[in-house]
Amino acid sequence: MATYLVTGANRGIGLAYCRQLHSRGDQVIAVCRQSSDELDALGVRIESGIELTSADSVAALVNGLGDQKLDCVILNAGILQSMGLNDLDPDSIRQQFEVNALAPLLLARALVPLMPEGSKLALMTSRMGSIEDNTSGGSYGYRMSKVALNIAGKSLAVDLKTSGIAVAILHPGLVKTRMIKFNPSGISPEESVQGLIARIDALTLENSGSFWHASGTLLPW
Ligand SMILES: NC(=O)c1ccc[n+]([C@@H]2O[C@H](COP(=O)([O-])OP(=O)(O)OC[C@H]3O[C@@H](n4cnc5c(N)ncnc54)[C@H](OP(=O)(O)O)[C@@H]3O)[C@@H](O)[C@H]2O)c1
Repeated sequence: MATYLVTGANRGIGLAYCRQLHSRGDQVIAVCRQSSDELDALGVRIESGIELTSADSVAALVNGLGDQKLDCVILNAGILQSMGLNDLDPDSIRQQFEVNALAPLLLARALVPLMPEGSKLALMTSRMGSIEDNTSGGSYGYRMSKVALNIAGKSLAVDLKTSGIAVAILHPGLVKTRMIKFNPSGISPEESVQGLIARIDALTLENSGSFWHASGTLLPW
């Protein structure tokens, strides 16, 4: 039984991670700002009241974990605020950068001391952060924040290799969650997370730092 910490655990993809990891017998530490009935019903350990952009909140989380070892950390929480060139909102761009790129980097740094050799770090990014794949433009804040997360993930993979920690940079596919207003053309969080967990299970120091679609396809930077 391995211990997984998951952020953004109260709903969407994070909740599906918690459900599937718990049901296969792993120990789950579910991190969220506010729990949900669905998360409460799982019976996993919940660390609520954690605002990931707050240094105090992150310190409280780490403090609460004590010397708990983490075999896998899944930094999944994120926000999407769409905007085009004609309605650029600098505050929104800063906020997306803070939540989607800076907060995961700082939390990863804070949790690394709890991660033994052989442990794994999974960053939930997006194909929208692929420069090569960008044919539709727009979504400035979201795209910029996910590119920043991708390069942070690559640096983490390089820097943590000597500690024996492997890093996955993961795109979940188009997933029917609140983030995309439950767009009916998306797949279910359950289906996406089946693929994502398979990618994490297959993560090694040799393939660390790669950008994967949940389906198993390697994505271009
Ligand atoms: N859905 C897709 O199609 C899709 C595609 C590509 C990538 N992704 C990525 O997948 C990840 C999960 O997305 P999702 O679709 O599951 O979205 P979601 O349903 O909107 O869930 C987002 C989660 O992030 C949490 N969160 C947001 N800001 C936070 C903050 N400042 N502090 C703590 N928690 C915060 C939310 O908590 P609250 O409930 O407290 O707001 C919620 O648990 C995100 O990183 C997203 O960018 C999703």
